[in-house]
Amino acid sequence: MNDQLQHIMDLDDKYYLGVFGKRSPVSFTHGNGIYLYDTDNKSYMDMIGGIAVNALGHSHPKLTQAIADQAQKLIHCSNYYYIEAQSLLAEKLVNLSFADKVFFCNSGAEANEAALKLARGYFYHKGSPRTKIVSALKSFHGRTMATISATGQDKFRTPFGPTVPGFTYVPFNDIAALKAEVDETTCAVILEPIQGESGVFPADKAYFQAARELCDATGALLIVDEIQTGIGRTGSLFAHEQLGVTPDILTSAKGLAGGVPIGAMLTTDEVATGFHIGDHGSTFGGNPLACRASLTVLEVICEEHLLENVNSVGIYLKNALEELMITTPLISEVRGMGLLIGIGFNSPIAAEVKALCLENGLLVGSIGADTIRLAPPLILTISEAQLFVSTFSRLIKTIQ
Ligand SMILES: Cc1ncc(COP(=O)(O)O)c(C=O)c1O
Repeated sequence: MNDQLQHIMDLDDKYYLGVFGKRSPVSFTHGNGIYLYDTDNKSYMDMIGGIAVNALGHSHPKLTQAIADQAQKLIHCSNYYYIEAQSLLAEKLVNLSFADKVFFCNSGAEANEAALKLARGYFYHKGSPRTKIVSALKSFHGRTMATISATGQDKFRTPFGPTVPGFTYVPFNDIAALKAEVDETTCAVILEPIQGESGVFPADKAYFQAARELCDATGALLIVDEIQTGIGRTGSLFAHEQLGVTPDILTSAKGLAGGVPIGAMLTTDEVATGFHIGDHGSTFGGNPLACRASLTVLEVICEEHLLENVNSVGIYLKNALEELMITTPLISEVRGMGLLIGIGFNSPIAAEVKALCLENGLLVGSIGADTIRLAPPLILTISEAQLFVSTFSRLIKTIQ
């Protein structure tokens, strides 16, 4: 380990509130395309993309240029004033989706916080308050008080109770359980198209369609959390498009500005009535820098045909990993859509696999004890994916 890395690790140990535990023993100084470089200038193929954030990879010339240009002109000025990039980004997201209106914030949790508040505000301002919100077990919606309350995993809530009242949880992909819980008193149902944080578990199309029908029948709102699955990750701009379901509220973040912090909540004109003036806001949300970065990400996704790329490279990657599964008894399942892929093991080796990958210049994520997650930049090429699969295959075969 070099002195620079040792110094960074010592500082982190001493001063950073260690919520992330022992991090991987590496620190990156720069990146290019799908590669990151550490303090020894060793290169790593980035197959986790900042946890589904670096949509355009690292140092994409158009994105860095747009950010540098905007930073020289105006980073922030507050929402007291009209912001051109914010208006243009809102227009673009509306044109690309079901939505009529967009609210901007700075993270996924904040986007969900806005969505949950909007849903309750909608019924309150209509004069028929509803507060019950149904979410799925094993879901993940963020770390704020309302979003841990929406998250269907006890471990995120237990130390921080009492949580926000009004949330109930049902097993994911279980239509009968959803039917039993959603009725005329339900304010909203919140679901992820793929449960990314609990192991990359995709929703069934029939489940999402049943959720939409139930919401229509009872008047409840359908909130689709696309913080991880949105912005091209699954091969369409938003994953719900492939599930044949239109949400009432959609949340986005992660890849939306390619690494500059941003969150967005999209909704219809009707549901937008749930926020009156002063009901919600954000100091940083939708500032010129973040919005300019996001506009550039959306432009590049279109110019470089990245949705098509995600589809073809995603299919290649999934097929190649499924083939590897046939000859590798350790792998029990390959799950996911597009460039969001979970590799399930039949024993608790995920941390070992992740460390071995790191040592050999591959960055992957681990979830729990038995899943590796891949969420590489959307610019990943077939030949880069081939190189990943051949290296990963070689490494996995060294584990007993
Ligand atoms: C589906 C989903 N919702 C919400 C969040 C929270 O986003 P953030 O960490 O930006 O607050 C995440 C983060 O992993 C997520 O995957």
